[in-house]
Order: sequence, then C-alpha cells, then structure tokens
Amino acid sequence: MTDVIPNPKLRGGIVRDGVAEPILSQDPIAGEQYYSKDYMQSEWDAVWTKVWLIAGMVNQVPLAGDYITIDIGRESILCSRGTDGRIRAFYNVCQHRGNRLITNERGSLAGGEFQCAYHGWRYADTGQLNWVYCEEDFPQGTPCGKRNLAEIPCDTWAGFIWINMDESCASLQEYLSPVAEQLDSYQMHNMKRTHWVTLESDFNWKCVQDNFNESYHLPYVHPQTLPVMNEHYSGCQFDMYASGHARMLMPGGAPGPQYEGSSDVTFKSLKPDLDFWELDPEPYRNDLPSLRLALQRRKRELGQQKGYDFSFYSDEQLTDNYHYTIFPNTSFSMKPDGCIFLMARPHATDPTKCWFDMWYLTLFPTGSKEYYSNAMRDWVSIDHQVEHVQGKVGEVSCGSAIDQDVAIWSTQQAGLQSRGYRGDYMPAQENRIRFFHDTINSYIKQFSA
Ligand code: FES
Ligand SMILES: [Fe+2]
Repeated sequence: MTDVIPNPKLRGGIVRDGVAEPILSQDPIAGEQYYSKDYMQSEWDAVWTKVWLIAGMVNQVPLAGDYITIDIGRESILCSRGTDGRIRAFYNVCQHRGNRLITNERGSLAGGEFQCAYHGWRYADTGQLNWVYCEEDFPQGTPCGKRNLAEIPCDTWAGFIWINMDESCASLQEYLSPVAEQLDSYQMHNMKRTHWVTLESDFNWKCVQDNFNESYHLPYVHPQTLPVMNEHYSGCQFDMYASGHARMLMPGGAPGPQYEGSSDVTFKSLKPDLDFWELDPEPYRNDLPSLRLALQRRKRELGQQKGYDFSFYSDEQLTDNYHYTIFPNTSFSMKPDGCIFLMARPHATDPTKCWFDMWYLTLFPTGSKEYYSNAMRDWVSIDHQVEHVQGKVGEVSCGSAIDQDVAIWSTQQAGLQSRGYRGDYMPAQENRIRFFHDTINSYIKQFSA
C-alpha cells in the first residue's frame, strides 16, 4: 500500500450508506480490564503484536539514513529509510547481546551506520550487520550479513508509517478496509503536522479509545461544541465494520434542532470560519440548521478560489465531523481542513498508564503559509518545524478541547479500580465501545488458543 492520489471514483466524496450493526456481546466491561496485569499480557500477546500500528509520519524520514523510533509497550520500533529508498521497520535491539540500539527519537545517519554503544556493532540503514569488532574471533563464523536487525512488516498509507509485529499479518490494505478508501478523500498525505504532543498518562489506554468511540460525553465535557455541532445521537450516524474499525458522522457548521442556546453564541463560535468563507450568518438567525447548508454552498462556490480542491468531498464533508476509530488505538477526527489525530500506546509494564499522542494535521489551502485552524483555535504556519511536546498529564496541553477529555480519564481510571464499580451500563449510542471491547476479546480468543 502506498500514499495514494485519491481514486477518481472518490470524486463526490464518502458514501454514507450504513452497514448492518454487528451482533454485540452482552458481556459487561469489567473495571479489571483497565488494571489487570494478566489482561494487559493477553492484550500484548493477542492484540498489540498482531495489528497494524502507526509508528510515525513518512515525512519524518525523507532521505536515506533518516530514522525514527517509537515505544509500543515493552518494545521500541526503529523505522529507517534505506539507501534503496524503502522504509523498513526493525525491533530496536542489537543482535549481539540485546542492547537497545538507538536511544533517540529521530535522527539521520547521513551516510553512516547504526552503531551499538555497547561493543560497537554496526548496521546499515537497511538493517544489515556490516561490521563487528574482532570479527576473526567468532569460531561459529562471522555474524556480519547474518545477524541483521530483526525486521518486521512495514508499509505506508496516508502519509503514515505503519508497522506490524506479526510476520504473517494480512496486508495493511486488507487490514484498513473499508475505512482507508473512505479516508483517501481527505488526502491526508498532503496535510502537515502542526501540533505534536505526547502525554505520559495515568490511565489505561482503553480509556482513550473508549472515549473516542462515543459522543455521549460532549454536552458535559465539551459544552462549547453544542452551539456548532449536532452531537445528539439522533442526528449522528454510527457504523461498525467487520474489520474492527468504526465511524461516526456528526453534522457540523450549526447546532442540532435540540439546541436551546442563542444564535449569537453560534455565530461567535463559527466566526473565524464564517469570515474565511465570507458568509454573513444573519439570515439564518432563526433557522440555524440552514446555516450548515449555506456554509456548504459557500465552500463549493469559493473552494477553488481559496486554494482547496473539494471535488473529493461530499457536501456533508464540507461542514461535518467524520470521526474514524481505527482498531485498536487510533482515531482520525476529520475536519474539512484537517485531522485531529489521537493515539494511545500501552505502557511497558503498568496497565494503569499509557502514552497518549495528540497530533493536529492541517490541510493548508494552496499558496497559504499561515492559516487559522478553527479546530485548534490557533494560527499555524506551514514553515514551522513542529516540536514534539512531551510531559505528564497537567504539565502540557493538547489544546483546550482534548485537555477536557484528558482531565476525565484520570478520574475515570481511579473509579474503574473501585470495588464499588459494577461494570458498564451503556446506552445504545455507545455501542461502538462494546464493539471495541468485543473486538479485543475476539483477538484474545483467536490468538491465545
Ligand atoms: S550488545 Fe550491541 S554490540 Fe554488544
Ligand atoms: Fe471528548
């Protein structure tokens, strides 16, 4: 699979046809699943080491010798672009006596080799072992060319580097079906990462993915969304795919019919967007749902002039939130001009901790170097080299909206560990959470026989 130029068939945008809801289990989701070391081990054996996961972005390794590393549970994965142009992934471990080979997050060999700090073994950017100290002193024969780095499947799609620790995995294309074809319409490979935050978190990784599998929390955790989105389940569409992925289509550009707030608040919240698209909202003061349609029309009229090719979007994609949860640990929350990228990685040893990655990817209008990202409420620049901001919960910000989610997960983790928690009791609109846990359990069943 490679980064694609969207298929011409995608012109017109994502088909909204729903799929039949899968049969879901009635199994309660127990608090233990968020703190048990045994369950964590089952997830490691049957999920993390069997699925395709994002390791980074293709544009982090533009040249031969460029590399990145990423921690996933107890593993560190090294991705390197070889002199032949191919990106490969390896376990980040020296094949002499197991030292972690690379300890920094990214770098460039610039014509050199990966060299282990312990006894100096040297590997090419293709993973081949090139040189060892005292090569003549190996009665079993030289390790060079034999004890190469342990390579794992690696592929790219949508500007991301994907890895899989399962040698016999299905292709990335098969794994991501059918959501990859849908997401291609957003041309994510043309987006630029303008925010990059990693939190060292005091909650289980599933708190993150659960949360992004429902919008039930919006009125309470994100009340600021009510004037500009139709978050109510009656206005949204939810789909769960046999591959384990899911989507939620949530109307944006105006509140839903249940909104009881003032039009002024809606106009104020949408102001940057309305200004950019030169749309006067006053005619819609008493008919806010029509404002969404007017915004769609306006974007069609002015899209090209403003530097966008919207021919790959449906009208709904021009205003709405297309939110995809990719099994097991990633969400793409698609906006017309960008993507909130959310990912949770398991901690090496502690089920009550994880790494939470929040990126924002901006689709800059052609010719624009500076752009106001309404989703992040921030100006972003195409020339700015994004810093990787890292810290503990509360120390660094993921942007005001995602900070609201993060604040909840810590208190939820505390509650999930209570003797008084009886397991979940969820409304139908949270079925994607049940589906997510059913999918984990089906992997555990399949791979722990
Ligand atoms: S462990 Fe790497 S060279 Fe010895
Ligand atoms: Fe949220």
